[in-house]
Parts: sequence; structure tokens; C-alpha cells
Amino acid sequence: MRKPAPTAVPILPVIAERWSPRAFDPEAVLTAEELAPLFEAARWAPSSANNQPWRYVYGHRGTEAFDRLLSCLSEGNRDYCRRASVLVIAATRTVRDNGKPNFHGGHDLGLSIGYMLLQAVSNGLAIHPMGGFDDERARELLGIPEHFAAWTAIAIGRYGDPALLSERHRAQETAPRERLPVSAIASEGHWPGSALE
Ligand SMILES: Cc1cc2nc3c(=O)[nH]c(=O)nc-3n(C[C@H](O)[C@H](O)[C@H](O)COP(=O)(O)O)c2cc1C
Repeated sequence: MRKPAPTAVPILPVIAERWSPRAFDPEAVLTAEELAPLFEAARWAPSSANNQPWRYVYGHRGTEAFDRLLSCLSEGNRDYCRRASVLVIAATRTVRDNGKPNFHGGHDLGLSIGYMLLQAVSNGLAIHPMGGFDDERARELLGIPEHFAAWTAIAIGRYGDPALLSERHRAQETAPRERLPVSAIASEGHWPGSALE
């Protein structure tokens, strides 16, 4: 299923085509060759001082690693992510080499994941980022060191049949895509929108 963004002006097709699907094909298997470009794209994101604070732990469906990753997700996310081909948990470095807090760690991880999302869409894959997971459980089960923090889970696979989804998730799957207008997020010389926002 496609859900292209109804953009106000033309943008890169891959950005308009990206969305966050839940209907993963439970039979689909991703090969290492299909997964490699996603981490390669993530690797080439820019980062503060080229610090590259992002780290990814992943597992293919049917493996013990996948089950561990799945067990970290919130119940609602687990419900549809069990059909994904690959699950990922993404972490970022919270401390710099000089011992100071890595203020841009979240920013840099988000950019890296953004690159991964676009590469996946460009390669015909379904991909969905999530914040709904237990980060402390992930730390324990995935061996995430103290100076890193798990920020995002990601489900990757091939698009499947929305009929497999729960009623709630099917409704989300077909809901129209919405965004604030550009006038509410960007403005020349002053804060966009009303003074209260
Ligand atoms: C940081 C982050 C956390 C998110 N958490 C969840 C989540 O826990 N469960 C979920 O189903 N979707 C989650 N999403 C997906 C968003 O709901 C989705 O990106 C948003 O509704 C916009 O829809 P679109 O991605 O289809 O354009 C998350 C997305 C981001 C970037």
C-alpha cells in the first residue's frame, strides 16, 4: 500500500513516499544483502564533530535475537512488529570522549535513522520507527553500555496484508497523513505561528 504525502510543493519522491506502515508480511525474509544498504546509509549521516554516536542492534525474525528485541517493545508495538522481518534497536552515545554530555547525540541518531528510512523506502522496503519500548530492558538484554542510551526501535520488512492487523492498527494504517502547514513551522525573521506557541 502506498500513502504518499500530499505535499504543498514537489519534494524528493522518496521523502513523499516514506510513511510508517504496520502491515508487515509475516512470510518475508530480508537477506544480509538487502539489509546492508540500510546500515550503510545510516553510517553516512552527518554528525557533530563526526562523532558518529549511533549504534544499532538487530535481529532477523525466527532468531533468539529477534525475540529479545521484540520483548523490549510496548504491547501495542509488539502486536504488529512480530510480523516484521528484522527488528532494530538504535542507541546513541550520551558522553563525549572528553567526558562532557553529548548534547547532539539524539540529533545525530535521528539523522542517521532518517537516512536509513529513506534508503529502505528507496529499496522498496517497509520501515517503521518507534519510541514505544523499554529502554532499560533493552540495555540489559542487548548489553548496551552505560555511556549509551537506547532511543528508538525500528521494524523493517515487506509490506503485507492490512487484514492481519488489529482493528485499531488497521484504522491507523488507512488514516490520512497529516502535518502542520509550513507557515506554522517556518517563518522568516520571527517565530512561526502565534506568540504563545
Ligand atoms: C521517535 C518516534 C517514535 C515513534 N513511536 C512510535 C511507536 O511507539 N509506535 C508506533 O506505532 N509508531 C511510532 N512512531 C511513528 C509515528 O507515529 C509516525 O512517524 C507519525 O505518526 C507520522 O506518520 P508517518 O511516519 O506515516 O508520516 C514513532 C515515530 C518516531 C519518529
